[in-house]
Amino acid sequence: MIDIHSHILPDVDDGALGMTETLAMARMSVADGVTHMFATPHHIHFTPLHRQEVIGRVKQVQTQLDAAHIPLTVLPGHEVRLYAGTLHDWENQMAGPLGYSRYILTEPSFYHYDRYTNAILFEFFNQGYTPVLAHPERIIPIQQKLSLIEPVLARGALVQITANSLTNRPTYAARIVAEEMLRQGMVHIIASDAHNTSYRRPGLSMARDRAARIVGEKQANAMVTTIPKAILNDELV
Ligand SMILES: [Fe+2]
Repeated sequence: MIDIHSHILPDVDDGALGMTETLAMARMSVADGVTHMFATPHHIHFTPLHRQEVIGRVKQVQTQLDAAHIPLTVLPGHEVRLYAGTLHDWENQMAGPLGYSRYILTEPSFYHYDRYTNAILFEFFNQGYTPVLAHPERIIPIQQKLSLIEPVLARGALVQITANSLTNRPTYAARIVAEEMLRQGMVHIIASDAHNTSYRRPGLSMARDRAARIVGEKQANAMVTTIPKAILNDELV
């Protein structure tokens, strides 16, 4: 399986605390069947990292993984926050795509989504990129009105839901919305958005199995294998 969303880089954002936790997260991922993981640190609110700096830190982590014989390949990325400065940050390389692909992991504000949010996403399309919406099922305005993201989905945006949304308790709002999105065929990818080894941990298999109950085995599997692999290889989804 391929995990396109994680905070595995040590001491950068609210993810891994130190290389020890990074390696522990990697071990958990591998044990769950993950072979490739994108490191997607938050592009604002924490340590800002230039695209080149992310690549450098990913190399450091890879060196440690190889030394510890943990068979996980880490790839660079950013979780790109959608706000008034996003396109400026993008031009200045303070936010970057998933690996070396045309795909960008984009995160709307948790409390606000409007036509300006979609306008940023459309600008990415105009520049030849394809946005992947990170966990829309957790964004309050989208929870209340799924049609907010219809214009970008119609243009070809992809949707990534978070594994934990499907494995959480049945009354968890994000779970209810994620299941509805699965029923409506609005989901392309399941990713861990792992932050640590405790309450926001790595792993995709349990969520994949939950998704399979709604969309079937084949489609659920694609959400953690072939679709993220197409992103990795910069192929059309
Ligand atoms: Fe994230």
